[in-house]
Amino acid sequence: MDQTAPGESLSEQEVADRYPWPDDQPWVRAMMVTTLDGAAAGPDGLSGSVSSSADQLVFNAVRRYADAVLIGAQTIRAEQYSPMKAKPEDAARRAEAGQSPAPVIAVVTGSLDLPWQLPVWSESTNRPIVITRETADPERLATARQHADVLTLPALTPDHIIDALVGRGLRRIVCEGGPSLLRDLLAADRVDEADITLSATFSGTEHSPVTTALPEVKSFRLVQVLEQDDFLMTRHLGQGR
Ligand SMILES: NC(=O)c1ccc[n+]([C@@H]2O[C@H](COP(=O)([O-])OP(=O)(O)OC[C@H]3O[C@@H](n4cnc5c(N)ncnc54)[C@H](OP(=O)(O)O)[C@@H]3O)[C@@H](O)[C@H]2O)c1
Repeated sequence: MDQTAPGESLSEQEVADRYPWPDDQPWVRAMMVTTLDGAAAGPDGLSGSVSSSADQLVFNAVRRYADAVLIGAQTIRAEQYSPMKAKPEDAARRAEAGQSPAPVIAVVTGSLDLPWQLPVWSESTNRPIVITRETADPERLATARQHADVLTLPALTPDHIIDALVGRGLRRIVCEGGPSLLRDLLAADRVDEADITLSATFSGTEHSPVTTALPEVKSFRLVQVLEQDDFLMTRHLGQGR
């Protein structure tokens, strides 16, 4: 297992290099932070309040060479997602890997009840993607199409969702939550890697989202631990990966 020495600090590029993406196959990473008492959100209902600069360093590093950032609708309704913009320092490496200049944000929603006022829709480098059902409300579909590329699927199953992204050439997918979407991806065995930060905080679980139980326990293999400012940034691989 790869780990940092206590007190060792890594540069942003060194952190990015610790989170390599496979060259050719589709790969889904789950990126989440959890408190010591198992909460996915702080007392304000947001994950930022239990995060830290070290956690953000890893979060940003994983995004740098991703094709798509996949989130559930409740996450974009709760968190103020910023526009996803190209960074000059990543341009050469992304171009060399055949990637567009920035990752694209992809939001899974059945309701299409999304915060269209956020600048993430209009100011991101790539037009965002909204993933919904073929049977979605036509008026809401028309609104969504004003702000995003809308993918309508026969069902919002993880296989349909991931395959639709991969079908658009988006193979390097980081799922930034929330817990409900992650739970569904896990149930369908569509999480290749879990990058989970253990926040050195307790926050109570009252405002933390809960999920329905998985049909069975899913075991992952710990392959890396980075430690900074009392936070543990872990990297786990799924069965057979
Ligand atoms: N700790 C962390 O790292 C972290 C990360 C992200 C979010 N969060 C926190 O977690 C909370 C949000 O998470 P959450 O678990 O409540 O919600 P979520 O997974 O972000 O979103 C759930 C919503 O996404 C859509 N959706 C997701 N999967 C679906 C599926 N398989 N089929 C149909 N629709 C699907 C539905 O949208 P519609 O309702 O539109 O139909 C559903 O209500 C927020 O408090 C956020 O701050 C924490």
